[in-house]
Amino acid sequence: MKRVRIGLLGCGTVGGGLVELVRRNRGVVADRTGVELEVRRVLVRDPAKPRPVDRALVTTDPAAVLEDPEIDIVVELIGGIEPARTFVTRAIEGRKNVVTANKALLAASGGDLFRRAAERRVRIGFEASVCGGIPILRAIAAGLVGNRISALVGIVNGTCNLILTKMSEEKCSFAAALAEAQRLGFAEADPSLDVDGRDAAQKLQILAELAFGAKLDHAEFLVEGIRQVEAEDIRAAAELGYVIKHLAIGRDLGGELELRVHPALLPVVHPLAHVRHEFNSVLLRGDAVDEMIFTGKGAGSLPTASAVLSDIIEISRNGHGHEPSWHLPEAVDKPLAADLESKYYLRFPIRDVPGVIGLIATALGNHGVSISHASATLVEGRPDCGNVKILAHRCLESALRRAIGEISRLPVLAGPAVLLRIFEEGL
Ligand SMILES: NC(=O)c1ccc[n+]([C@@H]2O[C@H](COP(=O)([O-])OP(=O)(O)OC[C@H]3O[C@@H](n4cnc5c(N)ncnc54)[C@H](OP(=O)(O)O)[C@@H]3O)[C@@H](O)[C@H]2O)c1
Repeated sequence: MKRVRIGLLGCGTVGGGLVELVRRNRGVVADRTGVELEVRRVLVRDPAKPRPVDRALVTTDPAAVLEDPEIDIVVELIGGIEPARTFVTRAIEGRKNVVTANKALLAASGGDLFRRAAERRVRIGFEASVCGGIPILRAIAAGLVGNRISALVGIVNGTCNLILTKMSEEKCSFAAALAEAQRLGFAEADPSLDVDGRDAAQKLQILAELAFGAKLDHAEFLVEGIRQVEAEDIRAAAELGYVIKHLAIGRDLGGELELRVHPALLPVVHPLAHVRHEFNSVLLRGDAVDEMIFTGKGAGSLPTASAVLSDIIEISRNGHGHEPSWHLPEAVDKPLAADLESKYYLRFPIRDVPGVIGLIATALGNHGVSISHASATLVEGRPDCGNVKILAHRCLESALRRAIGEISRLPVLAGPAVLLRIFEEGL
């Protein structure tokens, strides 16, 4: 039996889950893997907080973990960039293997940390950084290593998915659904990282770096959150046979990559349309396996701890001195596509005057955008105000935006246009 001593940095939601999971499943893990796990030291900020760990193991001194020669693996579950980056760097420099769930750290400094780890011949496990309990990174990097992956699309932010599910099924506003998600503990007091799409963009960066073998920067992706999705659009989408989901999409177009995060209309029959509440799902296409879908809990104490524990075991069995079986790329930049081609849902708030659909259709036609559906509805209790809803055939987004610019100058427009992309293909 191999004994592996864990130094834990952070003992909050995921750290506490890991302590609980090690306690609960230590025996079964040892039987299966020959690795006996021991949590040896736990770094926290506030030593007085109650935690599921022996108080004697708790410390506020980082050196007690990072410089303990008995510790084999440092598990970083603090979150954010600093001091997590400093602690992880110190662990690597001290030739300790590292496991982290920190997508923000990896998106910002993954390349540098993996270079240092390779120099010191130590490993970084990061399965838990994307989609919590779903073993998607290991699937891409190991299980599907014999494939060229051409595309992936995922629901990778559980908070957005829960809010959109509630808006769709309980017919409530974004604000009401967000408040409910916060009450249930699925959204932070400051939800901007989630609802503005940046969390999903960081995860897409890590997924796409592994899938497409390119060093990427999520700051260059097209990123939109879900604040602008209104109950009116969810209702209209449902009437047209769609559901609105927040998607992370990556495609290898040959010479360039398309990377984007935004809400989109999905046909109700699409497999991702059935992923509800806080669940995550990633659909990808490999040239050998064709389409594959992975679904499960993308966050939470025990699901995320499950991914952390799998990294600890993998590193324990193939640890020091071995080449890492997979890691994030340091270089190989691929250009991102400058324009996007898609089908679109458009909504134009209007003052109800005769011929308004014709005016909008003409402006779209002026820019080569053709229409597959057009309808007008009145706003309840406001007989002079309405909405024109359009489905546009596949077109370049740059052309569509020029058309919207022209339409916005029409005197009949009563508010800003809403543009949502339609995701039709399996992938
Ligand atoms: N929560 C999830 O469902 C989930 C899912 C996937 C990935 N992740 C990732 O997992 C990581 C941890 O998330 P979490 O939700 O477990 O966070 P959390 O509940 O806020 O826990 C953070 C822990 O780090 C400790 N800490 C914070 N700053 C510190 C400092 N300067 N020095 C020492 N300790 C410090 C805190 O100590 P105190 O307890 O004393 O405050 C706390 O124990 C993040 O990178 C997150 O993105 C989380």
